[in-house]
Amino acid sequence: MWPSLELHTSLMSSIPVITLDGPSGTGKGTLSQRLAQHLHWHFLDSGALYRVLALAATQHTIHLTDEPALAHLAQHLPVKFVVNQRGAHPLIFLDNQDVTHAIRTEKCGNDASTLSALPAVRQALIDRQRAFRQAPGLVTDGRDMGTVIFPDATLKLFLDASPEERARRRHKQLQDKGVLTDLTTIQTELQQRDDRDRQRAIAPLKPAADALIIDTTHLNIDEVFKQILQTLPKFLTQNR
Ligand code: DC
Repeated sequence: MWPSLELHTSLMSSIPVITLDGPSGTGKGTLSQRLAQHLHWHFLDSGALYRVLALAATQHTIHLTDEPALAHLAQHLPVKFVVNQRGAHPLIFLDNQDVTHAIRTEKCGNDASTLSALPAVRQALIDRQRAFRQAPGLVTDGRDMGTVIFPDATLKLFLDASPEERARRRHKQLQDKGVLTDLTTIQTELQQRDDRDRQRAIAPLKPAADALIIDTTHLNIDEVFKQILQTLPKFLTQNR
């Protein structure tokens, strides 16, 4: 039993992982997706897992502070990520219901942030996230990817931007989707969510000690992507 488990573990850790962590509004969702597509690697949107859990909690009328019930739900969460092509954006199903768009609301994001502070909930989702590590490689998007879930990642990126710029981007994103909101409300909610994610006792949002920090405040998506691509050869050849 042990030798094969060790072999499995060493094979897993030889599969490269690139983690992108940071607060919302830094472009890390778009960039991690683009990078996965570029490399033809697998893609993990870890925030989507917390969002699906938040939606399932609402459907089951489980209170966002009921840690045992939420952890149980997380352990048995009937979530499926369906991808047609490696690296492509997944369709997300909860109990065979397509929730790809339903989980993107501000409420779902805020609920996800609230329940993600519960240690038993985070613990219940660890193995599910690590199972995404498959050959030829994995790109991940989240808050604790480089610090907790993949501490041995090949390359750890932490994207940041000023709170004002992140709120402006989020506001524009919602406007483009036809959602009516005002900038001040977005900025307040974003700040609250950030504070919660950064100040929680377990797996708080912070750069790993060995993360490369990119401030995207004055950069557009293409400029950041270019910077990331320029960084890649050094890390990927080092780890072959
Ligand atoms: O990245 P996102 O906006 O979809 O994430 C929603 C919330 O989920 C975020 O505010 C905090 C939580 N989350 C987390 O705690 N850890 C992760 N790795 C990803 C998301």
